[in-house]
Amino acid sequence: MSRDTSPNDWPRHGGQPGDMLARLGLPTGQPIRDFSANLNPLGPPAWLDARLPTLWQGIDRYPDPSYRAARQAIAEAEGLDIGQVLLTNGGAEAIFLAAALHAGRRAVIVQPTFAEYARACRHYGLAINELFLASDFSLDERRAGEAMREANVMFLCRPNNPSGTLVPRTQVARLLEAGRAHGTCLVVDEAFIDFVDEPAESLVSLLAEHPHLVVLRSLTKLYAIPGLRLGYLLGSPETIARAAERQMPWSVNAPAAALVAPLLADGDFVTRTHAWLRQELERLTPTLTHLGFDVSPTRVNFYLLRDRYQPQATDALLRFLASAGILARHTHNFPGLDGRWLRLAVRSVDDNDRLLAALAAWRQEHGAGMP
Ligand SMILES: Cc1ncc(COP(=O)(O)O)c(C=O)c1O
Repeated sequence: MSRDTSPNDWPRHGGQPGDMLARLGLPTGQPIRDFSANLNPLGPPAWLDARLPTLWQGIDRYPDPSYRAARQAIAEAEGLDIGQVLLTNGGAEAIFLAAALHAGRRAVIVQPTFAEYARACRHYGLAINELFLASDFSLDERRAGEAMREANVMFLCRPNNPSGTLVPRTQVARLLEAGRAHGTCLVVDEAFIDFVDEPAESLVSLLAEHPHLVVLRSLTKLYAIPGLRLGYLLGSPETIARAAERQMPWSVNAPAAALVAPLLADGDFVTRTHAWLRQELERLTPTLTHLGFDVSPTRVNFYLLRDRYQPQATDALLRFLASAGILARHTHNFPGLDGRWLRLAVRSVDDNDRLLAALAAWRQEHGAGMP
């Protein structure tokens, strides 16, 4: 493998501009607009600045080990019992706990997707099968059913990182029936579901009938608080009890736990997020297509992009954008993409305009209609 295509040679996650610029051999001090992390550019909510200092007052005490108040707020927001909710240190801890529940068994991971499912499975000694999405990023239900028969647990990211595509709820409901028939659990990571302005797509109502469903959520993406670390795991009371046994004590710090209720109560922030995202996607997608780029049919705040005429030139495009002050996320460590696409966040109007200008410059320099 050449230096440019070895997955281990690239930063494992987005949002690491220094590492990425160094990897590209570009000066690390230059100002850069970071499109490589998929956080909400409207966040964190403005009221958080004033609230944080008051939260420090409780740091001379341990947090409530059962996080009752935070879990109650989540249960009320989701219409569940408190016993169906486990508070976690970001969605990342929820992923590792979901894998821990099946330690030593066999998982199937729907690829290309977030690398941490595979890492969590390896950590807990799960053997890994891979099931690949179709080229339009849809899930072939027949193949998914077959894959479930051969595994104890399936990991599905919905909406999917990195494509932004959403396996419809109706399809998940049929997968759950297949899972019931084969005794296979389904872990659905919904870290980005709050960006989808369609409450009917929520899987929460399926939890009552399907004790083998586990839903993972993150608060860090929507509210742009990855430094605070907040997420949760939803499942049957039995699953939650088993996951809680495997969780480190006091895994979530007290200031973060105290923010769960006010964050979930900020409906206005979510409404503004949906309005911004709708407007920017409606503006960006046709323009990108018109400029000669393929774009994944995303439902959320990031998408995959490649040059329709020169799909083999993705690393050159990454470097070109970085030289223009725009950092995209490589896809070298997404099996099935292997660097052939770039992932870009939907950012502010101003940032998106800069991106469009840089892509128009690329098109001018590299032309269209080449093989
Ligand atoms: C699909 C997905 N799930 C979970 C996470 C972890 O998020 P958190 O910051 O809540 O740990 C990420 C982070 O990028 C992600 O992309």
